[in-house]
Amino acid sequence: MTVTRSVILGCGSYLPSRRLTNDDLSRMVDTTDEWIVQRTGIRARHIAAEKEFTSDLALAAARAALAAAGVDAQTIDLIVLATSTPDNTFPASAAAVQAGLGITQGAAFDLQAVCSGFVYALSVADGLLRTGAHQRALVIGAETFSRILDWTDRGTCVLFGDGAGAVVMETQSQPGGRDDRGILTAHLRSDGRHKSKLYVDGGPSSTGTVGHLRMEGKEVFKFAVGAITDVIKDVFRDTGYSAADLDWFVPHQANKRIIDGSAHKLGIAPEKVVTTVDQHGNTSAASIPLALDTAVRDGRIKRGDLVLLEAMGGGFTWGAALVRW
Ligand code: ACO
Repeated sequence: MTVTRSVILGCGSYLPSRRLTNDDLSRMVDTTDEWIVQRTGIRARHIAAEKEFTSDLALAAARAALAAAGVDAQTIDLIVLATSTPDNTFPASAAAVQAGLGITQGAAFDLQAVCSGFVYALSVADGLLRTGAHQRALVIGAETFSRILDWTDRGTCVLFGDGAGAVVMETQSQPGGRDDRGILTAHLRSDGRHKSKLYVDGGPSSTGTVGHLRMEGKEVFKFAVGAITDVIKDVFRDTGYSAADLDWFVPHQANKRIIDGSAHKLGIAPEKVVTTVDQHGNTSAASIPLALDTAVRDGRIKRGDLVLLEAMGGGFTWGAALVRW
């Protein structure tokens, strides 16, 4: 019996040209390369240029993903853009991407689940594709967190960066067996009791300002590994796969200690973990497709590989998805 699945055809990413190293940061706030590397694994992050907006980053990543997939933009009828740093309060930055690609059909909207945004967007797009309402989607994660950082707060400004990543996905009929390609499952979670542990202290309805990112780092850290491993166990239970079956683990790139801790707790071998956080810091919703694109382009992730994605972020929100590439 065949089943309809959302199959990833290609991916792309974009990092702004300005690279800010830990040493650069040590001249701006009281910090050191050693402290940042030891606590987070981050060595550098990229910062968008003055007139470069989230939608510009998203558009560059989308174009790269379309090229990698060998797909004409005119065949896209769904754009889901995960971001917490849209160009404007409205319209959605997805609309700017749609216009930039010259697409006039289908639907385009933003989705806000902070660092979990890409996993959420992938799951929402997968659901919409499988209803038959849409055939081909661009799923994008794009952020300019540099615009919401308090550059005097060394506890947060060293952690984040700007960037974008995207995948092209389409519905395909698959045999319905172990070798099916596409999104095999996605599990999304949220617990709003933690909404004040990682938040932005402004917004259109509350202050009328954009605000700055605030975080109880230790609380986030404590919650992260447990939440991530929990939802991944649900993914394994749902699909019958285990850590040993995975070819690649592509986690949200927030912090090397969280990534390593989660992989260790799940029994995922270190050589299967894709880590790019050292190069771009935490780019929130953009981090998973940035890491995916890196591992696809350097030849690690190949067609048919079993790839596990996970993320956790403000809300708290978290989630995981299992994909046969
Ligand atoms: N450089 C030097 N010292 C610093 C810096 C810095 N950049 N930032 C904080 N410190 C100091 C603190 O002031 C404190 O000094 P004190 O002891 O004199 O008071 C000391 O370092 C320890 O601070 P803590 O906050 O306790 O440091 P901790 O070991 O918890 O590490 C960190 C902080 C890296 C933020 C950690 O809590 C963490 O990784 N949390 C997870 C946060 C995260 O990844 N968030 C991303 C968003 S959510 C997500 O994507 C999963």
